[in-house]
Amino acid sequence: MKRDKIVAGNWKMNLGLDEGMELVEKLAKAYTHHEPRMVVIPPFLHALAVQNYLQSVHSPIEVGVQNCHQETKGAFTGEISASMIRSCRIPFVVLGHSERRQYFAETDALLAQKVKAALGQGLIPIYCVGEPLTVREGSGQNDFVAHQLEKGLFHLSPEQFKEVVIAYEPIWAIGTGVTASPEQAQDMHAFIRHRIAIHYSEAVAAATRILYGGSVKGSNARDLFVQPDVDGALVGGASLDADDFLRIASSI
Ligand code: 13P
Repeated sequence: MKRDKIVAGNWKMNLGLDEGMELVEKLAKAYTHHEPRMVVIPPFLHALAVQNYLQSVHSPIEVGVQNCHQETKGAFTGEISASMIRSCRIPFVVLGHSERRQYFAETDALLAQKVKAALGQGLIPIYCVGEPLTVREGSGQNDFVAHQLEKGLFHLSPEQFKEVVIAYEPIWAIGTGVTASPEQAQDMHAFIRHRIAIHYSEAVAAATRILYGGSVKGSNARDLFVQPDVDGALVGGASLDADDFLRIASSI
């Protein structure tokens, strides 16, 4: 089963508009391939300018945002709905990032609603899972991630689930410079695929794209990407540097 390879850059709450545009201009000049799919994920405020620019230069680089609200519209000051994202022709939305779970108290139950809202608008959710250090130290990572999958995603029909991209981001590897070893990443990705096979089917599991995230850099990407169940990366810090992000993309 040939799966899409995806290299996505989550800018988080970084870069002013001019810096973000400069970064995306550099990427668009250098990156003209369709494989792997390259996705940039700026803050909401800048995402439409980035999307319009990339369309104007016919770039294959795609755009995502970092969150969405579970309701379609209404009195939710400060929030952005999946239908608004869709109306900007932005295809991807990150959901369940550990920073949203940790700092904004997003629960699996809330995320299950957000995923449904995103899919209902034809968006592609990049759904993040991953355990904290204490859980890894107690070897509880498989149970922890299995629970996140069950509560956040397994309410979806097989047809809906097939659209979802999963990102395994162990919290202890995010922004720390400590990447999961290629073996740790492969073991967890294979485990995730196994859980999907049990809940849905072997065919759905084989088609699911599973990205790794956590201190991915140009220097370590290749070792991760050669693992059979690693279909790409969700990159934080290194995606703010055009050269490093391009090097990651060329490592697949
Ligand atoms: P870093 O690549 O900076 O560790 O961040 C990973 C991440 O959280 C991407 O969503």
